[in-house]
This record gives sequence, structure tokens and C-alpha cells, in this order.
Amino acid sequence: MKPVNVGVLGFGTVGGGTYDVLTRNASEIARRAGRGIRITHVATRSPDKVQQRLQGQVSLTADPFAVVNDPKVDIVVELIGGNDPALELVKTAIDNNKHVVTANKALIALHGNEIFAAASRQGVMVAFEAAVGGGIPVIKAIREGLAGNRINWLAGIINGTGNFILTEMRDKGRSFAEVLAEAQALGYAEADPTFDVEGIDAAHKLAILGSIAYGIPLQFDKVYTEGISHLTGDDVSYAEQLGYRIKHLGIARRVAQGIELRVHPTLIPEKRLIANVDGVMNAVLVQADALGPTLYYGAGAGAEPTASAVVADLVDVTRTLTADPENRVPHLAFQADALSNTPVLEMDEVETAYYLRLQAVDEPGVLADVTRILGDQQISIEAIIQKQAAKGADSIPVIIVTHRVVEKQMNAAIEQIEALQTITDKICRIRLETLSRD
Ligand code: HSE
Repeated sequence: MKPVNVGVLGFGTVGGGTYDVLTRNASEIARRAGRGIRITHVATRSPDKVQQRLQGQVSLTADPFAVVNDPKVDIVVELIGGNDPALELVKTAIDNNKHVVTANKALIALHGNEIFAAASRQGVMVAFEAAVGGGIPVIKAIREGLAGNRINWLAGIINGTGNFILTEMRDKGRSFAEVLAEAQALGYAEADPTFDVEGIDAAHKLAILGSIAYGIPLQFDKVYTEGISHLTGDDVSYAEQLGYRIKHLGIARRVAQGIELRVHPTLIPEKRLIANVDGVMNAVLVQADALGPTLYYGAGAGAEPTASAVVADLVDVTRTLTADPENRVPHLAFQADALSNTPVLEMDEVETAYYLRLQAVDEPGVLADVTRILGDQQISIEAIIQKQAAKGADSIPVIIVTHRVVEKQMNAAIEQIEALQTITDKICRIRLETLSRD
């Protein structure tokens, strides 16, 4: 059968990796897909720089619209990233009846609803495995492998840069800024690294995971997003003394009132497998009703790991090119006309446990005032540690771990505690999840 012609938009790290994997594994890929898959068109900002790397007949251009408008291209692989011009390119490709494979999490999280609707109208596929967890086939696992389950919750380390920073802070006591610079040099960080450290990249990915887990439209704007830049080495070390590790998690959970979608630093018990996912690695833990917990672990970024997911999508799309569009796997796992309007909860309504670090004057009655305020808000204390004052310091750190409580009650308690004359600084609050089965 005639090989499938692929046009690649963007020939950076992932584009190069995709070319290498498709070339090196061409015959195995053809045996899997039922026909060859070859890159015939590449659009890149500097065609001269990649000319030598490409073998065979590849049409090179600096104009990505030339690729999406070329009738010879069957599948467009969008690896430019961001929204502009990626959205316009993807929409044009769809209008031209081309299938699309993309690694662009921001594009899918923000514009996926519109893109999938257009793709369904045209009867083409938009595949996006590489958008979440790099090479880990977690979209496929949730969308297809867990199709018989109700997903209770999922929790993921879905930003390698943030995980690398937290790991280095814990293991080597290195500073936040120093580790971030190294992650940038390694090529893991986003073009704008605040996307990594402020949780925006993870929120893009969580919006996608939440939709395919619960069959709700993509709602990036409803994801609660908190970064890791305010964490100190002290918090990392106090958490460790209490038997926890701090991980920057994306959490999606179904509760009676709706669905929680939240990205924030989280204390998790150190004995959990996911607590031991270190460095730039990613992992997603899924708690499903029939199967129980499963953990999907692997490289969340990098040239060939991400290419692995892009090529798997190319094989998937190639296999189903002749299938009736109605019988393909739906973009968001559930049939488009069966998506639900279950609300995404405000953070105020979310229930979780907490780690609190207070800076208090060392005098009689201070802890009594703090515990009275917590008690008045129905907040039960699980552990409390008072540290010795550092030499010359006029206040001491107090660490409190609480049982689960609704966030708005904790907000009220924090406001009252911070108003005490004896509390000398803002409270550091980190949410805590045990990630046990329920
Ligand atoms: N900046 C992302 C990360 C790259 O660090 O995980 C992969 O999406």
C-alpha cells in the first residue's frame, strides 16, 4: 500500500527526534501500521540548518502554511508549540481534510473543544498523546485501557522541570534558581520557564487528563494553579522529617459535588511509589474503581521519548485512516455528544489535609491561641512540631499537620492566625494528600 505522507511543522528537539525514530525504525513501524509512514514535508524557521540531516526527498520550507495546504500531505504533525500560529495551522490542516498529530498541550487545553469539533465535522483525527507526560502512553491508557472503569482520582507529576528542581533541592540542598538554570540548559524547561515553576504547563496537561478521565469539556480556566517558587529548603526538610515528600502534583478527583482540578505542591507519604519519582521523570497515578491503582511512569520530555508518543499517534492514525469516523476512539474518550456538564469545583470547596508552617514569638499561650482558632474552624491537628529558635532569632518555626478539612475553613483559620500579634510572618500552607485508595 502507498506510504502515508507526513508534513512536520517545527523541526526542533521533538521534530528531529520524530524524524530519527521514523527513519531508524521504518520497517518495524510499517509492519505495525500496515504501510510505510514517511516524512515528506518539513517546515522550519531555518531550512538551511536541517537540510543536511534529512535523507531522501523531503520538501523543506520556512512557510508552515505551505505544508498544511499541500495536497500531497496526509497527516500534519504540529510541533511548533504555543497558540499562534499553531491554532491557525491546525484549523487549516483540518479544513483541508488532513489528520493532525500534535504535542502541543497549551493548544489542546485552551482550544481543544473547538479543534475537536472541527475535526469531527471534517471526519479527521487529532491525536495528542505527546501533549501529556511526553513519551508515557497515559492518554491511551486512560482513554482505552481503562474504558471499563470509573476513575475515582488521578494524581500526576506532569512537569519534569518542576520535579527536577524539587528533587535537587531535597537531595543536594541546591537553590531553586540554580537548579532551574540547569533544567533550562538540559532543554526540559518551557520557552517561558514560569510555565514550569508556576504550574501552568502542568495545568494544561491536567485539564486534558481531567477531560479524558471524566468526559467533561476542556476547561483550563477552571484549573486551580499554584507553583513551587515560594517553597523553601526548610519546607522540603520539615516534610521529610514528618515522613513526607513535596511533589508538584496535578490532581483530578471526582467527588459528590463535582470534579476537582488542581495543581499545587503537595506533601505525599514518602513510601508511595510516586513519591520516589525523581529528577525530570513524570508519573501519573490513577485510582480506578475496577482495576484499583495503576502508575504510569517514564520520560516526560526530551527528543526521542516525546517522538515515541508522536510516532505512536502516527501509527494509530494510519491504522484507522479507512475506518468510519464514527467508529474511531473519541478525542476526549467519551462520545462528543455524551460529554457531561458536571461542574469543576472552586478551590474553596475542595477538601484536603494541610501542612502549615508558622513563624511565632516564643512565649506562653501562643500555641493555645493557634489551636483554639483551628478548633473553632473544626480543624483537627494530626501532628505538631515546634523547632528551636535559630541563634539570634526572635521567633520560632511551628509546623502543624492537620486532618482533612474544606479549604474555605482553612482559609478562615489562616486569616485569623495571621492576625495574631504573636505570629510574625505569613503562614506557609502546603496541601497534603495520602494518595490511599479512596
Ligand atoms: N517543560 C515540560 C516539562 C516539557 O518540564 O515537563 C514537557 O512537556
